[in-house]
Amino acid sequence: MDDATGRPVKLDVSDVCIGYRDRRSGSFFAAVQDLGFQIHENEFIAIVGPSGCGKTTFLSAVAGLLPIAHGTLELNGAPITGPAEDRSLVFQQASLFPWRTVAANIAYGLEAQRRLDAAGRQRVADLIELVGLAGKEGKYPRELSGGMSQRVNLARALATDPDLLLLDEPFAALDAQTREVMQEELTRIWQADEAGAGKTALFITHDVPEAVFLADRVLVFSASPGRLVESVPIDLPRPRNRDVKRSPEFMDQTEYLLDLVMRQSGLRQEVES
Ligand SMILES: Nc1ncnc2c1ncn2[C@@H]1O[C@H](COP(=O)(O)OP(=O)(O)O)[C@@H](O)[C@H]1O
Ligand SMILES: [Mg+2]
Repeated sequence: MDDATGRPVKLDVSDVCIGYRDRRSGSFFAAVQDLGFQIHENEFIAIVGPSGCGKTTFLSAVAGLLPIAHGTLELNGAPITGPAEDRSLVFQQASLFPWRTVAANIAYGLEAQRRLDAAGRQRVADLIELVGLAGKEGKYPRELSGGMSQRVNLARALATDPDLLLLDEPFAALDAQTREVMQEELTRIWQADEAGAGKTALFITHDVPEAVFLADRVLVFSASPGRLVESVPIDLPRPRNRDVKRSPEFMDQTEYLLDLVMRQSGLRQEVES
């Protein structure tokens, strides 16, 4: 299945409902509903929307950690039935193994997949270089700053060359300056990581400028239950660096999206009234 541009569909989301059942009453609560869109190969997608609109719920379902209650959720044409090696997850809090060094943390996925051969070790070494951790490979997580920990987390997720990279507010816990650096680093890594050249990303954030800076397309979710409100292509040229944030195109798209997101959370009415 191809889109108009001829790129293969990576993730097909059609009429999806995902929710939670209350254990006591047995009643079902829909966190996302009537959700439908497609993500194509090599697309970097950002999802924004008000808090509680089901972004994490949706990402968990794509990761295979939550079942869908209704609809179709397909990766490469096959239904998602559980977690698998073709997807890597990065959360807000770096979840590193405290007893493993930086290098051993990054190697973890390859090791688990019995792929830590000469090529695997080279991949780990390349990634350490790529994410700017050269000289830190022997350190333990407790010796790292928040930004460094998220670099390790990112490198670990990239190490297995996942088909789909899932990121849930990975920079939200970082201070503003580190966050800015990491956004730039992620685009650089994304553009430079040749081994993972065929990768696709789903990046959740509530930071609209971050979404515009990183993404090829921004999906805006409505307030709970989350539905797709609009899909906004970001046509800023690549490679991007922080200078792009001063361009009129960046500011226009950011303002447009901020307005859209604020309408979803009902904030716009408050501001206007
Ligand atoms: N494990 C859970 N059990 C029951 N309800 C949940 C659970 N996780 C999230 N929810 C609810 O689902 C809705 C969507 O949550 P979430 O996906 O975390 O939103 P977001 O990531 O957009 O902030 C919220 O109303 C939240 O309270
Ligand atoms: Mg969330």
